[in-house]
Amino acid sequence: MCGIVGYIGNGSAKEIIIDGLKKLEYRGYDSAGIALYIDGEVQVRKCTGRISNLELAAADPEYDSHIGIGHTRWATHGAPTDVNAHPHSNTEGTVAVVHNGIIENYAELKQWLSKEHGIRFVSETDTEVIAHLIGIYYDGDLTDAVFRAVDMMRGSYAIGVVCSHEPDKLVAVRKDSPLIAGIGKGCNFIASDIPALLKHVREIYLIENNETVVLTKDHITIYNQNREEVKRDVFHVTWDAASAEKEGYEHFMLKEIYDQPKAIEETLNRRLLPDGRIRLDGINLTREDIENFSRVYIVACGTAYHAGLIGKYAIEKFAQIPVEVDVASEFRYREPFVDDRTLFIAISQSGETLDTLAALREAKARGARVLSVVNVVGSSVARESDDVFYTWAGPEIAVASTKAYTTQLISMYLLALHMGSEKGCLTPEQRNELTAELMGLPAKISQILKLDAEIEAIAKQLYMKTQVFFIGRGTDCAVSYEGSLKLKEISYINSFAVAAGELKHGTIALVEQDTLVVALATQGKLFKKMLSNIQEVKARGAYVVAVAQESCKQLEAHADCVIYIPDCRDEFTPIPAVVPLQFFAYHVARFRGCDIDKPKNLAKSVTVE
Ligand code: F6R
Repeated sequence: MCGIVGYIGNGSAKEIIIDGLKKLEYRGYDSAGIALYIDGEVQVRKCTGRISNLELAAADPEYDSHIGIGHTRWATHGAPTDVNAHPHSNTEGTVAVVHNGIIENYAELKQWLSKEHGIRFVSETDTEVIAHLIGIYYDGDLTDAVFRAVDMMRGSYAIGVVCSHEPDKLVAVRKDSPLIAGIGKGCNFIASDIPALLKHVREIYLIENNETVVLTKDHITIYNQNREEVKRDVFHVTWDAASAEKEGYEHFMLKEIYDQPKAIEETLNRRLLPDGRIRLDGINLTREDIENFSRVYIVACGTAYHAGLIGKYAIEKFAQIPVEVDVASEFRYREPFVDDRTLFIAISQSGETLDTLAALREAKARGARVLSVVNVVGSSVARESDDVFYTWAGPEIAVASTKAYTTQLISMYLLALHMGSEKGCLTPEQRNELTAELMGLPAKISQILKLDAEIEAIAKQLYMKTQVFFIGRGTDCAVSYEGSLKLKEISYINSFAVAAGELKHGTIALVEQDTLVVALATQGKLFKKMLSNIQEVKARGAYVVAVAQESCKQLEAHADCVIYIPDCRDEFTPIPAVVPLQFFAYHVARFRGCDIDKPKNLAKSVTVE
């Protein structure tokens, strides 16, 4: 939610910042802005819409500098307007601030600033108070003014600040919103996320909570809350710049669907030993720990929550421990039975989702062992967990999650198999048979990728539908939820997923002539029941698109169209079965002319409650 970039060096700050913002547009894209130091002033250009609008607003060749900050916004306080866009300035225009997060006490601060300092606010944002606070505290030392301002602020923030009185300094602060500092040669950077900097640096500092970072073109100094200098290890980014580019694909989402065989292979290769054993780097669960767990909670949001639903099946089946799955925004407001015999698993691509983070903190406070399944290295969820299982999917840029989801599934399977074999629920032979099947999945996904054109043709025929139901049983039910979310978030079609057995308890009332029903029928032991559910909707005139395993041809007599996935053990079908649904959502959205990588009202990293 919101992306920030800052640069100081000898290059073109405008070019570097705008390019970085484009890489962060997935974080928010309702308005954008930039502040550059030019001729003794901090000059701001900002506007509503995409970064391309900002490019035009800042096109003037005279408008450039060696230092600046930029922002791409996902509105929280105040509508997406030119005035509310960041950067925000103090009254004199000497300070400019970009901000990602929420200042919870902004109303009190605003009142205080107006009353005591006669400040008139021009925007409706919480961020503007930061610029004014820094402005009133400025007494010849920007770092000191920022420290004093931050002391007054409550909430979550990553901020970047420049000041016309100190054109050789950029100051940034992190609390509960991501921030990194990029280490260049004769130049330095700040950003919300790595893709913004990949073109320029591979060495970064991961800034921790409550830290302030002061950048000149040659130095980066990190301070803790007590203003003491802290040393930080350099983090080496292993991705290449191309992994954050579209590489010829029309959209990031399509590229990321195609990335899946490689991403899954990476997740597996890092964990599977040649003899079939599972080595979980970053996880220190001993056999004793595993035997001691009386229950597992899996908590996440959106797509990651859907991965948790499959995780429940896997852990209960392979490790025989009862599992509860909850959406993070609900978990923290109940009275969950969490104690020191609870394993709490947080799943999050970004590792910055505030609801997930808050649930994790709640579980930790109640004594749980906290393990996270995370994609973004060094993110808040990862850092606050006892054990971290990185999914190693590489950067996921499209707002709609694809490869992060399938690697989350692989991670949950590996975890469940590891726990099961440590507990003795699985013999080494059973475990090896299952891990061998997992190893075969990348090739199966590659086969499904060849169905792209076939699924595009199905989408072409159906993209005008206004309502879609997804149904399934067992793990297929969880995959239905994901297929439905994918479709609605990028195509804006009203789509709804329901356990196939639940249809007759209400939802079937909505099924009529030509209603589109996507039916997942990959589970052998539930196949007959699923067939009955398909017949129920067919009897009411539904148009049924089914997903089934290749060797199961019986559906052809019942469904209007069947998409086949390669045969696979029933436990693992959620991974291949979701890929046709990702393609379907993608092509439907494309035919409807939607902005696939940046759907309306959404952002990639949801750092507000
Ligand atoms: C949907 C999607 C979202 C995220 C959710 C959690 O395609 O991407 O539903 O899954 O916002 O985000 P993370 O995984 O970053 O915690």
